[in-house]
Parts: sequence; C-alpha cells; structure tokens
Amino acid sequence: MKNILEAPFLQEFCRTASNMYRLGWDERNGGNISYLLKKEEVAEFLDLNHVVRVIPFAGVHNTSFDAAPLAGKIFLVTGTGKYFKNVERDPANNIGIVRIADNGKEVELLWGYEDGGRFTSEFPAHMMSHIARLSVDPENRVILHCHPTNLLAMTYVHELDEAKFSHTLWEMSTECIVVFPDGVGVLPWMLCGTDTIGMATAEKMKEFRTVIWSLHGVYGAGKNLDECFGLVETCEKAATIYNIIGSRPIKNTLTEDNMKELIDLFGISPRYDFFVEEKYRKLAK
Ligand code: 13P
Ligand code: ZN
Repeated sequence: MKNILEAPFLQEFCRTASNMYRLGWDERNGGNISYLLKKEEVAEFLDLNHVVRVIPFAGVHNTSFDAAPLAGKIFLVTGTGKYFKNVERDPANNIGIVRIADNGKEVELLWGYEDGGRFTSEFPAHMMSHIARLSVDPENRVILHCHPTNLLAMTYVHELDEAKFSHTLWEMSTECIVVFPDGVGVLPWMLCGTDTIGMATAEKMKEFRTVIWSLHGVYGAGKNLDECFGLVETCEKAATIYNIIGSRPIKNTLTEDNMKELIDLFGISPRYDFFVEEKYRKLAK
C-alpha cells in the first residue's frame, strides 16, 4: 500500500488550503473544503475495509439530513475547528478521508482526524451541495467554503439582489462573465452549521456554482480543486476592484454590448435574465 501522505489528491488539497490561507480567505478555522475522491484512487493508498471509527452525521448539532444519496462515496474533508494555516504541515490531524455509510446517518472515517477530531461543522451544507451539483453536473467533485475579505465586504454595501450582484461583479473585469456566466447566487445572513443554511445553499447550487453567504463568506463548486479555487479567486478579484472603486464616480465600465462580444467569442451562455437591456433579456431561456 502506498503512503497516503504522498497521494497526489491529498497533496493538491493541502496546497489549495495553503493558498487559500495565504490569500486571507481563511482566518483561524474559517472555511472548509470537501473533495469527492474516486474509490480506485483511494484504494491505492488505504484499505477500504478498514474503518478507523464511525462518526454520526452532523453539523454543529445532529442533523435530520439523510445523506443516503451519497452512500459509499468517499470525501477528503477539512476538520472542524482546524486552521487552514496548519493543513499542509500536519494533514493527519487537520483533515480526514471519510465514506458516507449506507444508512446515510453516519460517516466512516478511513484516515485522518488523528487527534480525535471530526469533519467540518458545515458538512451538511457540503453534502447537500454535492448532491445538488451532481444532479446538474455529474463531473462536480469539489465544494469549497471560505471568507474572502472583499466579497464579504461587498455584502455590507451592495444590494443582495443576485441579478444586480452578479452584474456588478461581471462589470469589474473583462474575464468575469467568461469565468462565471452563471452569475452568483446570494443568500441573506443565515445561521451557519445548520440544515437550514445547507438546504438553502444546495437549492442555489442547482443554478449557480458560486453562492454568497451574506456577511459570512462564499461557497464554490467545481470539477476539480483548481477550477473551484479559480472561480472563487475571480469573484474575489472582482469584489476587490469594486471595493477599490468605492464611492468614486465610475467614468468607464464594461457595457452589456462588450459582454455580448465576449459571450460570442467564447461561446458561453450567460444568465441573460441578469442583463438590463431588453434586447439581451429576451435571450434568456
Ligand atoms: P469549521 O471549523 O467547522 O469548518 O467551520 C468554519 C466555518 O467557516 C464555518 O462557517
Ligand atoms: Zn464560514
């Protein structure tokens, strides 16, 4: 059996956590990542018949959520209360590899959380989001949550209407509409670590790969760690530009005609219902 610490998926996960920390997205224990692994890739490194311990499925408290649709699926997940700053230096204590039990109510620990820890308190939101994303994109493997400073700041001063919020982000740099033509979903402030915020996030995840948690942070989804990281990175960059502009009068901006040129060049289909001009709104599905 190969050494799990040398598994490419684990090393990439650790590097992602370090980059997120470095960018200031994950202060203290802020943020969490769950990465759906392929059974075959894990089997090279771990005995899948060896369950280290069984942990009840829960957020901050026990949850009524039934994770049975994900039964047998294996995830690499950050631990609750753990610091992203420490993940790369000490993966065995800060992250874990878990399998959803057949009963949908328990989680089988296959590796990690060695100091007796457990998965993130946002586990219900992550698992519900995985189910939602997989229903629209069978390739989705990553759900990532963090507290990027500028997106967070933006939720204090920008209307929380998701069409307007998405449009503002699209205006903040040329690449935005290409990277997230689906826009961003926006939730009002809600209590974290609960089934309620999990269900609300998952509902948005059917339409959006990015969901803003107002006054808290962001959820991103993607086919792999890089794609998901890049999505959040692009939104955060746009929010940074928005905040740098502040209340200074805008003299130039990306117009919807400019955006349409990008859409045609890259062959993407954006949320035309988030556009303002009628000639574009009527292109909405
Ligand atoms: P965890 O430490 O439980 O992952 O929680 C961090 C967080 O960001 C909660 O929203
Ligand atoms: Zn958080």
